[in-house]
Amino acid sequence: MHLRALPLLLALIATPLYAAHPVLEQRAPIRLTAQEKSHIHLEMRLFLSATQKIVIGAAANDMKMLAQAAREGGMAAAHEVPAGLRAKLPLAFKQLGHATHQGFDDLARDAESLGDANHALQQLGEVMSHCVSCHALYRIETRH
Ligand code: HEC
Repeated sequence: MHLRALPLLLALIATPLYAAHPVLEQRAPIRLTAQEKSHIHLEMRLFLSATQKIVIGAAANDMKMLAQAAREGGMAAAHEVPAGLRAKLPLAFKQLGHATHQGFDDLARDAESLGDANHALQQLGEVMSHCVSCHALYRIETRH
């Protein structure tokens, strides 16, 4: 590519981004302390790790590994949410979080009783719709 075309190219890429600026951030802020944010982020990394192991387990048709991974995202594995943090979380946020833990438990139970990796992946897709919804709705804001 000729170098003179570069500014034009950059402008073409940047313009739609800037034009869309007002809608770039539509998530509702949840105001938390840095520690509360860390609590949520830790929980999230567990979700991500459980999700990864479920996919690996399904691909290997290792239903035992899959069920164990799903339990890691379930109710029993959830960290106790401190009362102060709980009070700051919107109801819809708590419901989505609850549905996610519940979904992982359902997945684990069905994986053990049905032993069907495809079914487990279908359930994972449903569980992950909660990840997608919540991430589209909320962001965390901390004060410095
Ligand atoms: C109830 C709401 C909710 C659900 C459900 C949810 N998340 Fe999150 N997630 C969040 C919020 C809020 C953040 C932090 C956003 C911010 O910092 O602004 C986050 C952040 C993350 C992060 C980044 C963590 C870090 O350390 O930076 C990962 C990874 C993540 N989520 C994965 C997942 C996965 C995978 C699922 C589903 C299995 C999931 N989340 C479900 C609300 C949710």
